[in-house]
Amino acid sequence: MALIKKEVVDQIIQHADIVEVVGDFVDLKKKGQNMWACCPFHHEKSPSFSVAPKKGIYKCFGCGKAGNSVQFIMDIEGTGYVEALRYLAKKYNIEIEEDQSPAAVQAQNERDSLYILSDFAKQYFVNALHKNDEGQSIGAPYFKQRGLSVATIQKFELGYSLDSWDDFTKAALEKGFSLKYLEETGLTIVKKEEGKQYDRFRGRVMFPIQNVSGRTIGFGARTLKSNDKKSPKYVNSPESPIYHKSDVLYGMFQAKQAIRQEDECFLVEGYLDVLSLHQGGIENVVASSGTSLTENQIKLIGRYTKNITVLYDGDPAGIKASLRGIDLILEGGLNVNVVLFPDGDDPDSYIRKVGDTKFKEYLKAHSQDFISFKSELFAQEAKDNPVKKAEAIREMVVSIAKIPDAIKRSVFLQRCSIQFGIDEQVLISEYNKIHLSEQKAARQQPSAPSPASYAPGSFEEMAAEAEAAAAAEAAMYEEEDQQEADQSNLLRIREREVIRLILNYADKEVEEGLTASQFMLSELEDIEFKTPIYKRLFDMCRLKLEQGFLPTASEFMQHEEKEIRNEVIDLVSEKYELSDGWASHEIFVPREVDLVTYGSEREVLRLKWRNVQLMIKDQMDTLPKITDPAELDKTLRTIKTLKDFEKQIADMLGIVVSR
Ligand code: CTP
Ligand code: MN
Repeated sequence: MALIKKEVVDQIIQHADIVEVVGDFVDLKKKGQNMWACCPFHHEKSPSFSVAPKKGIYKCFGCGKAGNSVQFIMDIEGTGYVEALRYLAKKYNIEIEEDQSPAAVQAQNERDSLYILSDFAKQYFVNALHKNDEGQSIGAPYFKQRGLSVATIQKFELGYSLDSWDDFTKAALEKGFSLKYLEETGLTIVKKEEGKQYDRFRGRVMFPIQNVSGRTIGFGARTLKSNDKKSPKYVNSPESPIYHKSDVLYGMFQAKQAIRQEDECFLVEGYLDVLSLHQGGIENVVASSGTSLTENQIKLIGRYTKNITVLYDGDPAGIKASLRGIDLILEGGLNVNVVLFPDGDDPDSYIRKVGDTKFKEYLKAHSQDFISFKSELFAQEAKDNPVKKAEAIREMVVSIAKIPDAIKRSVFLQRCSIQFGIDEQVLISEYNKIHLSEQKAARQQPSAPSPASYAPGSFEEMAAEAEAAAAAEAAMYEEEDQQEADQSNLLRIREREVIRLILNYADKEVEEGLTASQFMLSELEDIEFKTPIYKRLFDMCRLKLEQGFLPTASEFMQHEEKEIRNEVIDLVSEKYELSDGWASHEIFVPREVDLVTYGSEREVLRLKWRNVQLMIKDQMDTLPKITDPAELDKTLRTIKTLKDFEKQIADMLGIVVSR
């Protein structure tokens, strides 16, 4: 893994102005101290997405997404941390000097070389289409005949490969690219025994395949001949270190913005389907191109929307592909609708046939959720055949069982019961059967045979028994748990508040030469935080102070762990800000910062108070177990001391402690 030096990371974060970074993607409007927009991560009509320029963070009060500039790029581009840093470094012209092992440097250089070569190839094919006679007389007319406009050709950087053995390979070698990389990207096919090398793509129109950030990673190439039995319709780049087919969707780079905006992604099969729909104004469309849909491809879509509509041919192959796709999408936790086109048409041919407007109407009219789709599909066969009907219902429930979300599952079971006119309870018990047998399969381990495997068929009973026993036990403990939960929740709130004040007012002086963070940290030196996240933050703050830094929120907002970053962001975000109006009307409103001294003193006391109470409880709990009189005496004295201390704190806080 390539590591970017800490100083450079800091430099990037310093330069990456949150308003500029976010502003590249959404239209921000100033309101009060913050900027607001409709959230790019979820669908909404009124803005709940805010950017706080001073704090360098964004937060959506609708969907909860939040972070600093780096996190924003990670969220919106769907990249990892390092890639996001690279993006920002590029935007701000910061040179990334990488701190790497020789092996990592080599791997990175190799990948970079492959990217550069692919980019060169893309440009070569584009030039061949536009500037070469053959490209102009053969390639360009083909695109025209397929109805593609100049704008579409440019947007997707379509090209043409000359009908020659090694025109491209020669040009690349001349440019200084090594044969090793030409072979690795599959652009050149090398026959060592024969001492020959030739271009993989010859006399074809070229579709460059890009990753989500727009870098060319491979190609699809279509023959111009309409029915040539000898050569395949499409020739594609092979897998390479930069091109993993199962992780890539054609058109994602051009579609992602629209997918997010529409909160829906159309999934088609071919390159030309993507291009035609785009041209017809439907930009939220991607293709699995050739491979059957994969889990990773669904995850990729899931970064931008939870709603997929599958647009497939209405022929048996298309229907089969849809069915497979549906289950995979449901399993990925996404919602799926299906639109089938009349047999013999794919989205490309259909939009060309009926035009943009009619096509969009067709989509609206024929979009079905998977329940309707499946039930219609089986309706014919199932009509008068009870066995087929039972099969169809089982099919349906199998799909529903794949949905990870329990609420969604029950909604679909209900829908299914209405659609088929079957008692919901029947479906639920069918579901339970499927669910249990899946669990059983998952639990069965090849080693150590479990009792269940000796008593086939009794699994359901055993599961029910175990469940009942667990429920009874749970009820017994519930009351106790509740009390403890309340206690620890109270403590958690206090710990959170302390950390919040430390982070927000790290540098605010509560008295000459003493900041709020210094004051609180030293006051709470002996306190052991109980909530893991706050304990970690507290320790991190302490470490910062020891190292001579103030533990400001921005220090931790770039922490490598998401949990820490998110917590810190939550702690420093305030939804309601005083509007500028107050200040200009000279109306005095006390602000928290003015109350910091008072607030931090009280918070320290409150946390101490809760801690003492817990210590008293712990001591009391041990009392019944003590048998040694000396020890009993000691414990009682400890309790007395603690109770006195509790009273003192309560007095200072002005709390009346009931006895
Ligand atoms: N495909 C492929 N190799 C093939 C056939 C198809 O990789 N030999 C992939 C391509 O990505 C293609 C997709 O599968 O775009 C869908 O195939 P198909 O429907 O046959 O092609 P179309 O894209 O519809 O192309 P055309 O309209 O030109 O026939
Ligand atoms: Mn087609």
